[in-house]
Amino acid sequence: MILVIMIWLRLILFLCFLNLSLSELNNKKFPSDFFFGCATAAFQIEGAWNEDGKSPSVWDTRNHIVPSVISDNSTADIACDSYHKYKEDVALLKAIGVNHYRFSISWPRILPNGFDDYINPLGVGYYKNLIAELKANNIEPLITIIHGDLPQVLDDIGGYYSPSFPDWITDFARVAFKEFGDDVKYWFTFNEPYEVCIWDGAEKAYNCAANLLKAHAKIWHMYNEEFRATQQGKLSMVLNLNWYEPETNSTEDITAAETMLQFSWGFFAHPLYYGDWPEIMKTRIAYRSKLEGYNQSRLPEFTAEEIEYIKGTNDFFSLNTYTTSMVRAIPEPEIGQPDTTKDTGVYTYQPDDWPSAASPWLKIVPWGIRKLLKWLKNEYFDPDMLITENGYSDATGQLDDPIRTNYLREYLSNVKDAMDYDGVKVFGYNVWSLIDNFEWMNGYTQKFGLVYVDMNDPNRTRTRKDSSYYYQKVCETRCIVDECVE
Ligand code: BGC
Repeated sequence: MILVIMIWLRLILFLCFLNLSLSELNNKKFPSDFFFGCATAAFQIEGAWNEDGKSPSVWDTRNHIVPSVISDNSTADIACDSYHKYKEDVALLKAIGVNHYRFSISWPRILPNGFDDYINPLGVGYYKNLIAELKANNIEPLITIIHGDLPQVLDDIGGYYSPSFPDWITDFARVAFKEFGDDVKYWFTFNEPYEVCIWDGAEKAYNCAANLLKAHAKIWHMYNEEFRATQQGKLSMVLNLNWYEPETNSTEDITAAETMLQFSWGFFAHPLYYGDWPEIMKTRIAYRSKLEGYNQSRLPEFTAEEIEYIKGTNDFFSLNTYTTSMVRAIPEPEIGQPDTTKDTGVYTYQPDDWPSAASPWLKIVPWGIRKLLKWLKNEYFDPDMLITENGYSDATGQLDDPIRTNYLREYLSNVKDAMDYDGVKVFGYNVWSLIDNFEWMNGYTQKFGLVYVDMNDPNRTRTRKDSSYYYQKVCETRCIVDECVE
């Protein structure tokens, strides 16, 4: 009997999926001022890991551990060699026809000591050249201040957990605003703070998050006081995660999905928009901490002053999102070792029959992005929204990549539906990524690029994939199908 019910449930889920993913493609044009872009990050593409005065980042250290902890034993020592080949990257952006490029700056390349006592002219020069090349091609730079590559020297003295961390990164950001700010209108403080913090375990993760939020707010206030009037830019924290869909429409599953949304997006967005953690995080973590024997909650409390300081520091909502998970209500997980997943008190999963990219976590679920955008709009005061990353990985880097093209088409269609029918104010979209690059712990085994990079060729030759021609057409026509109406 249980088996029959399960088979039925799966069938119903599958039919829902089919129905939603095969819904008609949106045939209306994106607005003429819409940002179409591509995204990359310094560590994943630049290489030149120890050139021109750059010091190691935590990822350089991780890369050089023996035996290797990277799945294909590779390093990003050379990666795509964009440090030397940035003009080729810009030429590709130009050919694809994007009007924006999101990249990150390497803190240890600009400030090899971690601190602003010494500014490396060659590091600054590299980004000035890149920005000049972009501008010469009418491509607007969007800059992430830190995308994973914390200077090792700072990690050695406490890194993200140091009470001084907000000061250190504010000093770095000040250098960046001074050097590049006249040419940059959109800044991101952190990329995916959730991923930065969550892997450190349930005792540290929340302290890490609190520190990153304070650091973000400090940068925002500094920008406000010292640069905003003259540079007129905007700042945001790039948040990430999935859409969380209730498994059934029972009240329990709907509540469980909402809890998961708060523990993921709300983890950072709630403080940014309301000053404090979501209520459900406060009550659940306090409850479990107590049963685990703690005197106080593992979730640190913000002071009234901190709440005021953090609230309202996201000038727009920037998000990376790729996929969807299902959520099921479950009984309270056993008390034992503190655990961030148990803190949520819900069960998330992705059905095996959902089509998957080479990255196992990346199931192709185009309808999820529309639901997510709508939820974020309602939750965070209808913000202007920029999709800073979305994309698909395969294992081969094949040039003939219809699945990536379909992924982009269907996700963009749902983004446009969210704009047209749900009134979500999305002002731009960036494909992750421009080129195949170093995918963190997975090395070069998962390829996200619109452009193939031959990692065996010392010249790191770049070749455009079919999907890049599709995206070129989208950029040109602002339309995701063959023919659009205005
Ligand atoms: C990150 C990128 C990463 C991509 C694919 C995002 O989470 O910002 O650095 O390469 O996803 O995993």
